Amino acid sequence: MNDIEKAKKAKYPENVALIITSDRKGRIDITPICWFTNASWRFHETWAINLWKGHYSTELIKKNKEFVLCIPSIEQKKDISFCGSVSGRNVNKLEKCNFDIIKSSKVKTPMIKNSIACFECKLIKSMLVYNQMLFVGEVVAARYFKKAKKVYHFGKYKLGAIK
Ligand SMILES: Cc1cc2nc3c(=O)[nH]c(=O)nc-3n(C[C@H](O)[C@H](O)[C@H](O)COP(=O)(O)O)c2cc1C
Repeated sequence: MNDIEKAKKAKYPENVALIITSDRKGRIDITPICWFTNASWRFHETWAINLWKGHYSTELIKKNKEFVLCIPSIEQKKDISFCGSVSGRNVNKLEKCNFDIIKSSKVKTPMIKNSIACFECKLIKSMLVYNQMLFVGEVVAARYFKKAKKVYHFGKYKLGAIK
């Protein structure tokens, strides 16, 4: 392991979010990410998210110019691992999981009711950084559902809560 790899491990645990996207027929894709951050606040609330250029979710965000970012709860751990192990291009992830999907108010992409909170985002900026797409979405609406333990990534796709 080189110095960069060793130093990067200091970032764990990372908070996990779920990115919701949908195709033209309304079929939903749910993709876990750890690489996300607020990109501005107060006057314009935004989320910056980083997705590999080949992900199905990346393709759908490019097409639809919107996404929903949800903060999942620890009860969703099994479904998160599953959604991070297959592509929505080949598998209908929603059919195999226990996500409770409801309509969003200002974007066409729906949100997950059994999560802690969800943000409806309209795409305002995109940038290719080597092989990753950096998308910035402006928050146009949000819902807070419940207080619950969040999901963290401890490295090597090991997920858990923090006590
Ligand atoms: C905990 C966890 C965190 C992940 N974080 C990211 C991330 O930040 N960016 C990314 O591009 N992929 C990330 N992935 C990988 C994608 O979720 C995974 O490859 C997914 O199957 C892509 O699905 P899609 O093709 O339907 O978009 C993560 C996976 C897991 C399990």
